Amino acid sequence: MIGRLNHVAIVVPDLAAAAQMYQTSLGAVVTEQMQLPDHGVTTVFVELPNTKIELLHPLGEASPIQNFLDNNPSGGMHHVCYEVTDIHAAIAHLVSDGARVLGDGQPKTGAHGLPVVFLHPKDFCGTLVELEEVKAA
Ligand code: CO
Repeated sequence: MIGRLNHVAIVVPDLAAAAQMYQTSLGAVVTEQMQLPDHGVTTVFVELPNTKIELLHPLGEASPIQNFLDNNPSGGMHHVCYEVTDIHAAIAHLVSDGARVLGDGQPKTGAHGLPVVFLHPKDFCGTLVELEEVKAA
């Protein structure tokens, strides 16, 4: 069901410093900062040849990643994102299999303007999993 690894997300305490580190120390291509108020985050994408790294920083009072940053003040890996071609079919399969979809269980529009859902980490080896619907290659 899942396809390619779309991105790995890392929460960082200082987005500009993290982007600079990826650009200068690691020699990667990074995007401009993008604010996503619906998701309570500001993001920078590090574009790698085979996938992306999503650098995340809290945005606003009720950011869903503020707690994570409070618990991991130097930052840390937050979630992995796998591609699916039919997110509603994926949700139906996962729910029938006993997995928990976070929030209201319905897809929201993610950082790339595509439908995404998040799955409960306790159902997936302690890792928060994001599914993103992409058109079949
Ligand atoms: Co993500």
